[in-house]
Amino acid sequence: MSKVNLAIVGAGLVGGDFIDQVASYNTRNPSTPLNVISISKSRTALLSQDFAPISLTNWRDALASATTAAPSPAELAQWLSTSPLPVILVDNTSSPDMADAYPLFASKKIHIATPNKKAFSSSNELFQKIQAAAKESGALIYHEASVGAGLPVISTLNDLVATGDRVTKIEGIFSGTLSYIFNEWSPSAGPGTAAFSDVVRVAKEKGYTEPDPRDDLNGLDVARKLTILARLSGLEIESPTSFPVHSLIPSALESATSGDEFLAGLPAHDSEIAQLRTDAESKGQVIRFVGSIDVASKSVAVKLAAFEKSHPFASLKGSDNIISFYTERYGASPLIVQGAGAGAAVTAMGVLADCLKIAGRVLSTLHPNTHLEVLNPGCVYVTVHPVRFADTLDTNSGLKRPSSRLCTA
Ligand SMILES: NC(=O)c1ccc[n+]([C@@H]2O[C@H](COP(=O)([O-])OP(=O)(O)OC[C@H]3O[C@@H](n4cnc5c(N)ncnc54)[C@H](OP(=O)(O)O)[C@@H]3O)[C@@H](O)[C@H]2O)c1
Repeated sequence: MSKVNLAIVGAGLVGGDFIDQVASYNTRNPSTPLNVISISKSRTALLSQDFAPISLTNWRDALASATTAAPSPAELAQWLSTSPLPVILVDNTSSPDMADAYPLFASKKIHIATPNKKAFSSSNELFQKIQAAAKESGALIYHEASVGAGLPVISTLNDLVATGDRVTKIEGIFSGTLSYIFNEWSPSAGPGTAAFSDVVRVAKEKGYTEPDPRDDLNGLDVARKLTILARLSGLEIESPTSFPVHSLIPSALESATSGDEFLAGLPAHDSEIAQLRTDAESKGQVIRFVGSIDVASKSVAVKLAAFEKSHPFASLKGSDNIISFYTERYGASPLIVQGAGAGAAVTAMGVLADCLKIAGRVLSTLHPNTHLEVLNPGCVYVTVHPVRFADTLDTNSGLKRPSSRLCTA
């Protein structure tokens, strides 16, 4: 029977939901399950003996009482390289140590599915090493959920590039937290009255920000997502700090010793940013925190920008993401992807969909006569290039996407 093994690292918000979704998938597809052979956290792990699948019934209790030490990335790679079935490493951490080990995993033909941005948005050297290792071994690396959670952002970009369209510009609101903050602070429905510091404080109280809001306001998360998309568009980006990144942290508060101290000092700076809103409103515009990639001029930036109230970015709701792809084929009306860009369920869905795509490609190579509908009814697979890095041209997923994908051409 055609199967693949999954080694899952990270069982937090996304990882936990992912494991539940795999359990549900396996119940719905009993003849072609995804075999989970390990689940690890930072210190402990559930590891299969002789690669037999781990029971996912009560996996949380089993993991909570596990005493086996979590393997290091090198130990895990060594063990997985002896797997009798093709194996997918599912990295549901944000660990740079895991990201640094991707070249090692890929060199051993261990496929990777991950929402972890680190490997693709850190140094260009690491990015190149991963690509080279994957090309050499044939390992498949999918990371749809590293930008926009489950939204089809990376697959859309890969499809545009692979089919020969010329992407000229990508612009979007890539942070759910900053989307919420600016939708509230600079609303399209009328003049904004709330102080910036009050909106940030409420966002933190609602759990939308990191424990220290500076980790959202420094723009680095958006810069990492832009780095990924710019590289997939063909631009050589040295690192996420090698282009202009606007920080919303007043310089006087950069050295605040805690998130609370930062929030206490923020009201003193409200008038600085309020002037931007006043100027924009006098022209019928709103302010949004955007990332933009101008492919032709090779310029990438994370910045505050003003948009007409009729612009799709102005009418965004809640903490949604929106990404516009300007291409030769789409002309003046960009292809727009919009919807929830964060949350455990949609992120885990993106990772599971990547696993199914990898499994479909791997099993079609191993068992050319096996009809892939066995693995995932509704999927159509067209192998374009078996070793292409993060190539997602091969699928038209039958999984329901949670977002609307508006093709406005
Ligand atoms: N949450 C979202 O909405 C969202 C959206 C898009 C993308 N993502 C990405 O998804 C990934 C996971 O996010 P999350 O929200 O699930 O984080 P989380 O709740 O903090 O969970 C992280 C998990 O990774 C484990 N871990 C950390 N370092 C590890 C290491 N070196 N080795 C083994 N396990 C390790 C942690 O174990 P311990 O519990 O033992 O520390 C924990 O189980 C991140 O890369 C994040 O950027 C998240």
